[in-house]
Amino acid sequence: MASSSCSIDLSGPTYCIVSGASQGIGRAIAAEVAKLLGPKSLMLLLARKADELAKTASMCQSDNVKAIYKSIDLGKASTKEMNDVIVNSLEGYKVTDFATCLIFHNVGSLGNLAIETARIEDSNELAQYYDLNVFKVISLNTQFLKIFEAVEDRIIIVNITSLCAIKPMSGMAYYCSGKAAREMYFKVLAEEKKHIKVLNYSPGPVETSMIDYVLTEAVNDNLRDVFTSFKNQGVLLKPDMTARKCMKVLQAGKFTPGEHVDYFDDE
Ligand SMILES: NC(=O)c1ccc[n+]([C@@H]2O[C@H](COP(=O)([O-])OP(=O)(O)OC[C@H]3O[C@@H](n4cnc5c(N)ncnc54)[C@H](OP(=O)(O)O)[C@@H]3O)[C@@H](O)[C@H]2O)c1
Repeated sequence: MASSSCSIDLSGPTYCIVSGASQGIGRAIAAEVAKLLGPKSLMLLLARKADELAKTASMCQSDNVKAIYKSIDLGKASTKEMNDVIVNSLEGYKVTDFATCLIFHNVGSLGNLAIETARIEDSNELAQYYDLNVFKVISLNTQFLKIFEAVEDRIIIVNITSLCAIKPMSGMAYYCSGKAAREMYFKVLAEEKKHIKVLNYSPGPVETSMIDYVLTEAVNDNLRDVFTSFKNQGVLLKPDMTARKCMKVLQAGKFTPGEHVDYFDDE
């Protein structure tokens, strides 16, 4: 990890969005960040499964934190719907009420693992994948930036990326190319907006439904072997372990603009 910058204090009133907060890493990030937020903080949790979002919200809710959630398909939502979701969550608040405005772009999917890379040709399927994992992430981020423009220097953006954004993995062309594009967008944004803190956090291999999806869907032998051995050797991280590390990296603030920081990187 690159050298120092100042630490990040989340103990003031904070507005915080977590996308993909209904399970897995997103739920764990929401629960961990909620513990750090100061009085009068507001969290907005997004995903499709409302009942699971409600459970995450109850994990986050406290004397300091009001946690609300909205069921939304982030692969299909229009720009206006995304804008409305954020604006509606702020009813009764002004953006200046918050000392920190934080967003975790955690939503993600693996794409079609049942096709060899050399056989990919369905551009509609690819476009759908890129909608959820890249294009709509950018749209949501832009709505966030617009709404909090008056307090832009209070914005912190965390993109949940992957080792696959910087290292090719056989059998995961959708995922690797999508993660690379998404990470690069946040790096470019960080170059342009030096006063906004932008972190690309790579959570390591984590025991979530994504791992089961690889094991059932992957046609690439190498990919299945890698994940089977992760599982059999018990090396998969628990979601709360990586969420705690993410908070540690964030709070230490030692990352350069848009830096890719992995769970296993030295501090
Ligand atoms: N697990 C790993 O080993 C690993 C490693 C590196 C990076 N990551 C990254 O970490 C992030 C979280 O992964 P995870 O392992 O926790 O996956 P997960 O358990 O599959 O969770 C994905 C989350 O995204 C939400 N989501 C999926 N499609 C959506 C849609 N169309 N609209 C709104 N929300 C949607 C899901 O909620 P609903 O189904 O309720 O919509 C869920 O909350 C992803 O960006 C992933 O790429 C994971």
